[in-house]
Amino acid sequence: MTRQVPIGVLISGSGTNLQAIIDAIDAQVLDARIEVVVSNKADAQGLARAKKHRLCTEVVDPKGFPSREAYDQAVVEILQRRGVELVVLAGFMRLLSPVFVKSYSNRIMNIHPALLPAFPGLRVQKKALEHGVRFSGCTVHFVNDECDEGPIIIQAVVPVFANDNETSLTARILQQEHRIYPRAIQLYAEGRLHVVGRQVLIDHLTTDESQVLIQPPL
Ligand code: GRF
Repeated sequence: MTRQVPIGVLISGSGTNLQAIIDAIDAQVLDARIEVVVSNKADAQGLARAKKHRLCTEVVDPKGFPSREAYDQAVVEILQRRGVELVVLAGFMRLLSPVFVKSYSNRIMNIHPALLPAFPGLRVQKKALEHGVRFSGCTVHFVNDECDEGPIIIQAVVPVFANDNETSLTARILQQEHRIYPRAIQLYAEGRLHVVGRQVLIDHLTTDESQVLIQPPL
């Protein structure tokens, strides 16, 4: 068995991705240990999920800090104190400052509910619908100094249907988020991810040329 990577999960909301990570660890398909769950919001639903699984939690309220950098430094200190090696952003609704990114260079992952580089930013399911795309999906990427811009690790594609609304598309994408986030972390745990410039090279990949998607179908 691969070693268990010590991770810290940062949340702001419902924490369904956190739950997927917890479940993957329990199912022994993810060789990681959640050392701490940090939230910037005291009422984040994900905190209850963490507590239910007896995980260590910390709420760091931005109100107590004079600057973004001071806030980030405090979070980094918590993570380092807990021995966190990989930082997992799971619906953490704050931009990270260079202070944070430098401390965990190529060791911070984020999940985004669109096929980056299309639709960075917020409410991207709505933007994808308004744009009329036939496919959307989700992306796990390493975090760099630009928002939703870092090297891409894994993506999942979902179809967009004529009768979709923001809620239905969000739910379809979220289901896939829960599959690819634990997988991305497992690839890291296995030491298979190598960042080279903009690209993430992955050791021992198989390819499948039949994975073509057409929407509407032929
Ligand atoms: C997800 O859609 C994720 O892609 C985005 O924020 C949402 C978090 O959901 N970054 P949850 O808190 O994991 O349920």
